[in-house]
Amino acid sequence: MSHRERWGSRFSFILASVGSAVGLGNIWKFPYIVGHNGAGAFVAVYLLCICCIGVPLLMCELFIGARGQAGAVKAFEIVHRDGSPWRFLGHLGWMIAFIILSFYCVIGGWILDFLQLAVRGQLIYNNPDAVGNILQQLFADPTRQIVWHGVFIVLNAVVMQRGFKKGLEQAGLWLMPTLVFVLLLLLICALFLPGIGRAVTFLFWPDTSRLTAAGILEAVGHSFFTLSIAMGIMLTYGSYLGSTTSLGRLALCIALFDTLIALMVGVVIFSVIFSFDMQANSGPTLVFQTLPVLFSQLAGGWVISSLFFLLVAFAALTSSLSLFELLISLSTETLETSRKKAALGVAIGAFALGIVSALSTNMLAHVTVWGKTPFDLLDWLTSSVLLPVSGMGFALFFGWVLGAPAVAELLGQRIAQSLFGAVFLWMVRVVVPGAICIVWLRGLLY
Ligand code: PHE
Repeated sequence: MSHRERWGSRFSFILASVGSAVGLGNIWKFPYIVGHNGAGAFVAVYLLCICCIGVPLLMCELFIGARGQAGAVKAFEIVHRDGSPWRFLGHLGWMIAFIILSFYCVIGGWILDFLQLAVRGQLIYNNPDAVGNILQQLFADPTRQIVWHGVFIVLNAVVMQRGFKKGLEQAGLWLMPTLVFVLLLLLICALFLPGIGRAVTFLFWPDTSRLTAAGILEAVGHSFFTLSIAMGIMLTYGSYLGSTTSLGRLALCIALFDTLIALMVGVVIFSVIFSFDMQANSGPTLVFQTLPVLFSQLAGGWVISSLFFLLVAFAALTSSLSLFELLISLSTETLETSRKKAALGVAIGAFALGIVSALSTNMLAHVTVWGKTPFDLLDWLTSSVLLPVSGMGFALFFGWVLGAPAVAELLGQRIAQSLFGAVFLWMVRVVVPGAICIVWLRGLLY
């Protein structure tokens, strides 16, 4: 295995993992599911999920990769035994990743479209309805969506073809810090808006009356989605690490950063909503409708809006690249194809499936299953159905198959033998899978 690629440093590992974790899930999805699920209580459940389910699972997944020194299917065989039935988790993972990639690139396409609008100075509107109209035009136009979806996929394929190290590692190095900088700028502007107080109360005051079982399941699923776990991505990233030391600290770092970004975006968006009397529950269009209103209030709004959408496009790109990386590393390992061929295959497949999502706001808008458009259905299927199942599998595998010796290696002998070690083991063995199972059943059957 000595020829396996390695991260240049721990720092580049963190950057790339954060690059995968921070993306449209934080900027586009988190605010709208918060608005949809009645805010405060949902945010509290979400934070609980990140701490009690997300972080432990992230640690387990990184461990399996770092231990196995192989991609998501093989690693299970190496860590467990040849022909291990647990390798189905690797297969489930790439299927989920493929579906997510397909619709993720469609949203990436929306971002690119908004980027060109921003650059052309067309996002500076005081009137929320005007921005709504721009969005409706994009949604109503299948060709425009498919073209941008294609452009986003081509961007991915180009970076991917340059190879893992050059493509992925360098991409992470300067993007994230710049994104944080712009978000901080927007946050400072939001602090001066009249709605900031209501926004903070809305986000952090747990009003449980609006929380449903389906909402709790959405919080669990989103904690997987936003940390990019339970698909084998973090496993693959872990496999490029040389050893299993200090994975706990790395996992905490990634989760903390990811959550901070989501909360910052949340505060900014809801401040705009409460300052300009907008709807908090407008769904997937929320970010696109609210932020331009803020940009138009700012001196230099044109520059800031362009920079913002450029950075969001990059954040989306570093996340979709991680999905690509998983699919490519699996195809090169199991099918023994070249990286170039694999990248091309994944790109074509994701483009084709993505068309279904791109058509969901226009030609296929009336085709619904259980009241969901094809796009919503794919999102729900991955986040609320498959990711929780897969996460449960990862926890059971780590807890029962690898068990105490793995905890000792992950946390170090001293901690593993303390109360914390025992709590960790039983969390992963029973609490995490049990909680997921209950939430999953209640959320689906509700
Ligand atoms: N975690 C990414 C985000 O929050 C999305 C993602 C999901 C990336 C699954 C990779 C795998 O946007």
